[in-house]
Amino acid sequence: MLVSAKEMLQKAKAGHYAVGQFNINNLEWTKAILLTAQENNSPVILGVSEGAGKYMTGYKTVVGMVNGMMEELNITVPVALHLDHGSYDACLKCVEAGFSSIMYDGSHSPIEENVANTKKLVEICAEHGMSLEAEVGSIGGEEDGVVGMGECADPQECKRIADLGIDFLAAGIGNIHGKYPANWKGLSFETLDAIQQLTGDMPLVLHGGTGIPTDMIKKAISLGVAKINVNTECQLSFAAATREYIEAGKDQQGKGYDPRKLLAPGFEAIKKTVKEKMEIFGSIDKA
Ligand code: 13P
Repeated sequence: MLVSAKEMLQKAKAGHYAVGQFNINNLEWTKAILLTAQENNSPVILGVSEGAGKYMTGYKTVVGMVNGMMEELNITVPVALHLDHGSYDACLKCVEAGFSSIMYDGSHSPIEENVANTKKLVEICAEHGMSLEAEVGSIGGEEDGVVGMGECADPQECKRIADLGIDFLAAGIGNIHGKYPANWKGLSFETLDAIQQLTGDMPLVLHGGTGIPTDMIKKAISLGVAKINVNTECQLSFAAATREYIEAGKDQQGKGYDPRKLLAPGFEAIKKTVKEKMEIFGSIDKA
């Protein structure tokens, strides 16, 4: 059964480790992440962006697939199904569809609007036993070929949003989605420290987990990060393994074109990446 991410992240914050949010795109991704979590006795959060939700034909399909898979694969570790960077409307759709957790991303709106919408969602999530993530300070990334540097959140605004009754908070600390550019200045630990001092026990979320060096990840965890989002890195591993298979001509040998064979190296590559991240985050055997 899917669970809210509240308890697993409170435990992680208190125990000084982080739980990974790995974004899913299809059946192979979901199966690889669920099996890796079970094999390593780790809690896990399956992230679904609005785009990935659409790709998988809608949130109800996602809920059906994940619930079915958890039952058929006997997954017993805590699993949360979480909307990633949702608009207000997408949040309502995921509540309706049976997600166990949502992220409302009001970081692009004026702070008053972010506060008002977050407040409404706090009540809705409480009614449904779901967890809620909110965001302050937008997270950079590539848009139309231009890589924006991650913004640093205002710690006072973080406190304001944290005090609304959300369960965990994403705050920009110079992190960005996708690959980091060569001239990236690294995470702002000064900002993270100031945010943690004002928000106390609130588990903090680090987006853009792909490509952040291990020492920075560990330092971020020591300063209150309890959830780390990884998406691009699984895509890169999947693509590299699939390319290797095709370039070696394996799809043309025997029944190598069978999707169950063609997608197997990419599936194994995702499992390896997820396990490596769980080791770094410290979530193994924390189920
Ligand atoms: P990456 O794609 O950089 O790993 O970021 C994932 C993320 O933060 C999803 O919200």
